[in-house]
Amino acid sequence: MTEKSYGGNNGVREHMGSSVKRKPGSMKIKEKIKSENKKIKSETSSDDSKLNEQDSYIKAGEIAKKVISYSKSLIKPNMPLLEIAQKIEAEIIRLGANPAFPVNLSIDQIAAHYHPTLEDQTLATGLLKVDIGIHINGFIADTAFSLDLTSDNKYKELIKASEDALVAALATLNKDPTFNDIGLAIQQAIERKGFSPIINLCGHGLGEYEIHEGVTIPNYANNNLNKIEKGAYAIEPFATTGEGKIYEGPGSNIYKIINLKNPRGPTARKIMEYIWGKNHTLPFSLRELQEEFGPMSRLAIKELEQLGVIHHYPQLIEKSHKPVSQAEHTFIKTPQGKIIITTK
Ligand code: CO
Repeated sequence: MTEKSYGGNNGVREHMGSSVKRKPGSMKIKEKIKSENKKIKSETSSDDSKLNEQDSYIKAGEIAKKVISYSKSLIKPNMPLLEIAQKIEAEIIRLGANPAFPVNLSIDQIAAHYHPTLEDQTLATGLLKVDIGIHINGFIADTAFSLDLTSDNKYKELIKASEDALVAALATLNKDPTFNDIGLAIQQAIERKGFSPIINLCGHGLGEYEIHEGVTIPNYANNNLNKIEKGAYAIEPFATTGEGKIYEGPGSNIYKIINLKNPRGPTARKIMEYIWGKNHTLPFSLRELQEEFGPMSRLAIKELEQLGVIHHYPQLIEKSHKPVSQAEHTFIKTPQGKIIITTK
């Protein structure tokens, strides 16, 4: 799952949750996550809970690979996006993991952040991006691929461009690259094929129960000469025949908790507690709430949004409404400096 980058050369972005105003007495959300995690770890005795951070990242990546190949065989032209979303999510759970975010199913000029509601009758057509997130104990694998669902394969080269860019970016990792080196490799691979990278979408650091943490990884040469430190990261090039920028469109029906407050409505309260218990600050969808809590969910989610409990992600749409392709892998850099691509 990507994010819109807000410029700047240091690659560090202000964290979405960090600017949240807190009332006295309300626990900082980060601290709350840490204490909850400790509680969960001491209470559970499953095999997964004994995995350390690195092993959890690797296991999440292993499951992500299986879900990717399942998804590639599942998706056929004109299949409802709703059916695709439900089946991919069921497969993640069947394999013993949990979704780190609602699978993004974005068509043509929608670069990212589209997820169907229960009423959505959109069918899989054109250039479909499938962006999948999986977590084990909060440690995430974030990976994406693009499918050409046209009968004449007209997006083949555009898809190849983002795939080539990802290969080129990953190839820099063993040469102790700067962020600029990675961005340059992506930009050159895409431009070589006559397309443009989307410059205001980027890869990102991953944290425990945090889909975007710390640095951003540029999709163009941005002169950031800092180097990658130990940690987990997702690289995700986007290629387009258009201008190479996205704008924030209508809501995606994907949300995340940014603050815990006291909603008046009983459904809103139930939803907040349910999501917090299950996802912490990881993104969730209106669809899963509709399945769990019924038609009241729509109103309840509005209430939570107005109260400032949740953030609603906008759809990210290419400015000139031209098609967009995407490819993505997750890697970790160990304290010893070793690079492990977890989803490849
Ligand atoms: Co991502």
